[in-house]
Amino acid sequence: MPYKLLFVCLGNICRSPSAENIMNHLVESARKSDNRIICDSAGTSSYHIGSPPDRRMSAAFSNKFGTELQGHARQFKRSDFQDFSLILAMDRDNYQDIISLDPTGQYHHKVRLMCDFCTRHSIKEVPDPYYGGTEGFNQVIDLLVDACEGLLKHISNDE
Ligand code: 4NP
Repeated sequence: MPYKLLFVCLGNICRSPSAENIMNHLVESARKSDNRIICDSAGTSSYHIGSPPDRRMSAAFSNKFGTELQGHARQFKRSDFQDFSLILAMDRDNYQDIISLDPTGQYHHKVRLMCDFCTRHSIKEVPDPYYGGTEGFNQVIDLLVDACEGLLKHISNDE
């Protein structure tokens, strides 16, 4: 069975598509691209359904990785709780919005804050870069690289 990761933010055009693309990049570099780790992303809101990633986010990503961000925004849905092994919320609002769709708490154990997996940064949330400047987008990439590296180690230890 593959291990399926779902990264979740508000709009699914900045933070969570970056996390998805960075994780895919790390998995490929670690030569683990044998379909055992599958990544997807979603937004808690419906604001940007169908949109490609934000250009500013894609620019920050391509500065670091040399490729464009892939994907189109979709909204988080209840069936994601069953379909994914682990659901990574970018901030506490995202976390609460996800948890509120699981009133009985049966999938609570699958939902984690992304920054729980950081080892080099002590910040607890991935800040929303949408209304800020370029530096905010670069900070998102740095934080997500840290968290994705920790997450990959966590998954590899579990397997
Ligand atoms: P994201 O960033 O949640 O990282 O995709 C945002 C994208 C859009 C909005 C807010 C945050 N918005 O308000 O439209």
